[in-house]
Amino acid sequence: MAFPKAINSLSFFVLSMIFCLCASQTMCRSLPQDPMVERHEQWMLQHGRAYTDADERDRRFEIFRQNVEYIEAFNNANSSDKEYDLAVNQFADLTNEEFKALRNSLRMKYYMSNQTVGKRSFRYENVTKIPASVDWRKKGAVTSVKDQGECSSCWAFSAVAAIEGLMKLTTSYTVSLSEQQLIDCDTKGFNHGCNYGLMDAAFKFIHHNHGLASDQDYPYKGKEGKCKVDTIDRSHMAKIGGFEDLPRNDENALLKAVANLPVSVVIDSSDGDFQFYSSGVFTGKCGTNYDHALTIVGYGTTKGGTKYWLAKNSWGRGWGEDGYLRIQRGVKAKEGKCGIAMLSSYPVV
Ligand SMILES: *[C@@H]1O[C@H](CO)[C@@H](O)[C@H](O)[C@H]1NC(C)=O
Ligand SMILES: *[C@@H]1O[C@H](CO)[C@@H](O)[C@H](O)[C@H]1NC(C)=O
Ligand SMILES: *[C@@H]1O[C@H](CO)[C@@H](O)[C@H](O)[C@H]1NC(C)=O
Repeated sequence: MAFPKAINSLSFFVLSMIFCLCASQTMCRSLPQDPMVERHEQWMLQHGRAYTDADERDRRFEIFRQNVEYIEAFNNANSSDKEYDLAVNQFADLTNEEFKALRNSLRMKYYMSNQTVGKRSFRYENVTKIPASVDWRKKGAVTSVKDQGECSSCWAFSAVAAIEGLMKLTTSYTVSLSEQQLIDCDTKGFNHGCNYGLMDAAFKFIHHNHGLASDQDYPYKGKEGKCKVDTIDRSHMAKIGGFEDLPRNDENALLKAVANLPVSVVIDSSDGDFQFYSSGVFTGKCGTNYDHALTIVGYGTTKGGTKYWLAKNSWGRGWGEDGYLRIQRGVKAKEGKCGIAMLSSYPVV
């Protein structure tokens, strides 16, 4: 009697298992379960991602799979000169083309031709006190990492981080300032909100506007809106006297400046490794067609002797080292790694 009963409960158990597995359509679809499908689903949950339909989901899954395979192969490779690692981050379901189109567009090549090339004087050119390492975060001169979202406003974040640093170092006042005000209001000159812009043009605007509002008074929306400064009394809190450009293609000049304050720089972020950078000193391949802007907030040397710049990015804390990039410093190319010494500037009081 006991024997068939056991069979029965066993079959019931197996049947229930099958029923449970198939209760969810997505799980049935993928039987036998591809671990990558499950991984994609977990990643979607983690990043709150939803797709419009099954086609889009399949397309994104394929991109995700390829990115994950690349990232894992890269991290597992035993290359002796590999100084950095990649991670399956919030950009893992985007192709490199899509990623660049959404975030980077600095599109300022023609501005270059307007700049005088050659020797340029700058206020820190004769400084001799250059510490072995600097981290402006430790002096409270760097606000928390922000996220530009799907808006090509890196120029605003780069300029604002430099001004936040200058404010702290000259007035001891730490305040997170408004990128949105630049996006909405700095529209009569070179800058174009979520399309493209330039830090120098932003500095110029803030100078003429007699300041910039705080983030709290003029919060970030990640899209272009109507300029609202008329209704904000405190839209002029961070005043600057203008800005200064560093000599182009001169990492030594950059070092002298960063020893004194955070500096806005450009970078060629078009290489796929940049999209998934997670830690270490970025030494990967890249060109000098700069398409992104960030703010250098320090420098140093690793235990292994690799010199690096420490830069604050605007892709949230999920990218890089809690939102920061360390990138090789003191390279042979005069433009610096990924063109980081090509177009640098900072605000002045
Ligand atoms: C890399 O090196 C480590 C330690 O030497 C080893 O355990 C690992 O299997 C190697 N990986 C590959 C992909 O060769
Ligand atoms: C650079 O020069 C071009 C041609 O004279 C001009 O149209 C453009 O506005 C200038 N760019 C800036 C940022 O001044
Ligand atoms: C740096 O020194 C040179 C040579 O003495 C001088 O001509 C230049 O004006 C100085 N620059 C600054 C910013 O003081």
